Amino acid sequence: MRTYIYPGTFDPPTNGHMDVARRAARLCDRLIIAVLPNRNKKTVFSVDERVEMVRKSLPDLPEVEVTCFQGLLADFYRQVDASAVVRGSRSESDFRLEAEMAVANRLLNTRFETIFLLSRIELSFTSSSIVREVASYGGDISGMVPAEISTEILERLSTGDKQS
Ligand code: COA
Repeated sequence: MRTYIYPGTFDPPTNGHMDVARRAARLCDRLIIAVLPNRNKKTVFSVDERVEMVRKSLPDLPEVEVTCFQGLLADFYRQVDASAVVRGSRSESDFRLEAEMAVANRLLNTRFETIFLLSRIELSFTSSSIVREVASYGGDISGMVPAEISTEILERLSTGDKQS
């Protein structure tokens, strides 16, 4: 049983994230999307909202588990008996940061493997902060986020109702 974890902040999830999730789901028996209540980042959406948005974004993949986790990814990895963590890589700069995390995680847990999936080129420049920026002006985010959550994101961000 190959269990992969796809971790992230997902504030909010983007089409780029969901592309990685769908491709990862095809490579393993069990995919866990793990939403991090990231204490290093100020988030607009609460953890529960982010978990729910990821769920809504994958209506065709009900078998994908979406949960949140606290603490170190290396510990969560042990807890769920994972075979690998999947991360999307959009650019050289993404890769550099991701490589640092992969090495640190391996030091924390010698069984830790990280698999990088290259982002689709047309999604390479999408990020959660760009989505937040465009949505804050009420702009069209339909090409950047799943249709199931775009109205919710626009409603939240264009009213200026921000959460920390
Ligand atoms: N498509 C679109 N955007 C993508 C993307 C993709 N395929 N892959 C990454 N991004 C963007 C996100 O939109 C986000 O953009 P933003 O900075 O503009 O908001 C950014 O890249 C990173 O977000 P995300 O993929 O959600 O991950 P993260 O870097 O916030 O999360 C964790 C990293 C969760 C893996 C890491 O913080 C972690 O493991 N934390 C647990 C604590 C721990 O173990 N720390 C030690 C690690 S060494």
